[in-house]
Amino acid sequence: MSTRSPELPALSWSTDDMPDLAGRTAIVTGAASGLGLAITRSLIAQGAQVVMAVRNTAKAEHIRAELAQGPGEAVVMELDLLDLTSVHRFTAAVHDRFAAVDLLIGNAGISSQSLTLSAEGVESQFATNHLGHFALTGLLLDLLGRSHDPRIVVVSSALYTSAALDLDRLDGTGTYSPGRAYNRSKLANVLFGRELHRRLQASGSTVTSFVAHPGMAKTPLHTTYPSPALRLVTKTAAALIGRPAEHAVVPILYAATSPDASPDSFYGPTGPKLHPRVQPAAFTGPGRDLDAARALWAKSQQLTGVHYLDFDG
Ligand SMILES: NC(=O)c1ccc[n+]([C@@H]2O[C@H](COP(=O)([O-])OP(=O)(O)OC[C@H]3O[C@@H](n4cnc5c(N)ncnc54)[C@H](OP(=O)(O)O)[C@@H]3O)[C@@H](O)[C@H]2O)c1
Repeated sequence: MSTRSPELPALSWSTDDMPDLAGRTAIVTGAASGLGLAITRSLIAQGAQVVMAVRNTAKAEHIRAELAQGPGEAVVMELDLLDLTSVHRFTAAVHDRFAAVDLLIGNAGISSQSLTLSAEGVESQFATNHLGHFALTGLLLDLLGRSHDPRIVVVSSALYTSAALDLDRLDGTGTYSPGRAYNRSKLANVLFGRELHRRLQASGSTVTSFVAHPGMAKTPLHTTYPSPALRLVTKTAAALIGRPAEHAVVPILYAATSPDASPDSFYGPTGPKLHPRVQPAAFTGPGRDLDAARALWAKSQQLTGVHYLDFDG
């Protein structure tokens, strides 16, 4: 089976085309670094109130001061996606503070890390990048349902096409590879975003789920790899072909705000580094595996204890 994404015509869309977001509330995970910070800046520039959902609140408060020129505003709230207790605490605090949420951008992530486990015994990249966002989404769905045009955007990677889900080895047993585990977490992002869309539709919800990716972006992510060789290779690749974060996030912002965005497309950047266009592509290879998506949903419910959108179809 070919895993190459069939591409559709690129879209000439830029952040200048973003709608006015005054009165809208967005939650961005990992908002104090890299792509999350660039997304936050753009949403605030359009007038949105952005909840910076972060594990390091002191760092985020410092950044928030820089974002104070508006016209929107940032609010810092603590969230550690690796810790399900923290996810529950965060969503309870959001319920106390907001009557509705318009946009949830599941952006936070770790990449190519050595094997460590969550409290539930799950490999940390899968637990952070997927399971934390799975639980977060389920616990916020009621607030999203109270909005007009509510959206969830899952941030994945084009690397998902080469991944295997391997749900029987979530504890990292076998031959653990940091890169393979990262790719698996990004495949989980794709399958989750698509299965979420299918279940939302079946339930008659007004919430829409999208999946997007930033291509290769120049962010601190590549400096966090434990392997010096990988750090060197990715630093070189990012310098050559990586986009600055504010340009890499254009497809994510398109999915988050354009009235023309479709849940059936995987949005990424194409074209010049500093003037990217939005490239819609079909989901392909393991990203089309409906049985895997169903199995992932069941496993995610089991591992997080967060059950929502139960559906037999
Ligand atoms: N950069 C690329 O080339 C590239 C390519 C494809 C996909 N992506 C995806 O883009 C997303 C953003 O990555 P980035 O490049 O912007 O990297 P980044 O600058 O390292 O940002 C990652 C963010 O995730 C946060 N985070 C990590 N673990 C967390 C946890 N347990 N709980 C809450 N937040 C946590 C980090 O928090 P701290 O600020 O506390 O460290 C950081 O803000 C990731 O999902 C990544 O997989 C990136």
